[in-house]
Amino acid sequence: TPGLADLAHRHGRYFGSATDNPELTDSAYTKILGSEFDMITPGNGMKWENTEPQQGVFDWSKGDEIVKLARANHQKVRAHTLVWHNQLPAWLTSRDWTPAELRAVLKKHITTEVRHYRGKVYSWDVVNEAFNEDGTYRDTIWYRTLGPGYIADALRWAHEADPHAKLYLNDYNIEAVGPKSDAYYNLVKQLKAEHVPLDGVGFQAHLALQYGYPTTIEDNLRRFSRLGLDTALTEVDVRMQLPATDDKLAEQATWYADLTKACLAVQRCVGVTVWDFTDKYSWIPGVFAGEGAALPWDEQLRPKPAYQALRDAL
Ligand code: XIL
Repeated sequence: TPGLADLAHRHGRYFGSATDNPELTDSAYTKILGSEFDMITPGNGMKWENTEPQQGVFDWSKGDEIVKLARANHQKVRAHTLVWHNQLPAWLTSRDWTPAELRAVLKKHITTEVRHYRGKVYSWDVVNEAFNEDGTYRDTIWYRTLGPGYIADALRWAHEADPHAKLYLNDYNIEAVGPKSDAYYNLVKQLKAEHVPLDGVGFQAHLALQYGYPTTIEDNLRRFSRLGLDTALTEVDVRMQLPATDDKLAEQATWYADLTKACLAVQRCVGVTVWDFTDKYSWIPGVFAGEGAALPWDEQLRPKPAYQALRDAL
């Protein structure tokens, strides 16, 4: 029987999953990872704390392992992520940098990492989570030290290092039309006007049943498409307050289907990626106390109602 990727392929879309290095020893898990999906995102392996743990000392082992597995399974890779405020190494965060110093550190990191994966990845999440909920710039080491221009610089450096990789900005809580997605809309317009290399915006879509479904998502994706950009749902999960009940799982299934239909309805929405596919390896319980059951397969790797709903939507 066809998997989610085969079904998505009929619409000219991909269907992806995040994965992480520790779980790759679980053969029941890797069997599903290799058969249902055609796009893979490393959940942690390409983040700065892993790839440049000491200044100027690069470690590609985790990212390479995932790229190699993806290649063996004929899957593409959404590389994630170059510029973020989380999961930075201590050498970078535990001292002050002048703007000139930090700019050189950032340029070297981006150039070296993107060159290493040149020709091996479909896209890069170049800048992750740059805005606050109210649409102002997030106060990060990058913004504080370099000002808002760090975003255009990062995109230009990444493009120079791999001219064929699709370059994305990526964030959460931008699925609906609102102050945060407006900030991206305006930034993208400005970057396009300045001919900054940018191919897409990634909508993480870390949703929670208790906060309601982002009903304006389709219109929102479409307005970004109209700016000449690709869009993608990049980190989908739909969490709930535990315990999971049949009603909550049914509601969750509807949300997964509706998200997928919104993407299919918008020309330039290129695909959907879930933030891992099984509750066994979801990041949610570790970060949101009392919440979980966010993914389409349960902790025993059995498909949940959301899995069938995805199939029916595709
Ligand atoms: C998460 C990983 O899944 C966890 O394993 C890690 O401990 C923290 O980061 N937004 C992102 C992802 O862009 O990189 C995050 O991934 C989840 C939220």
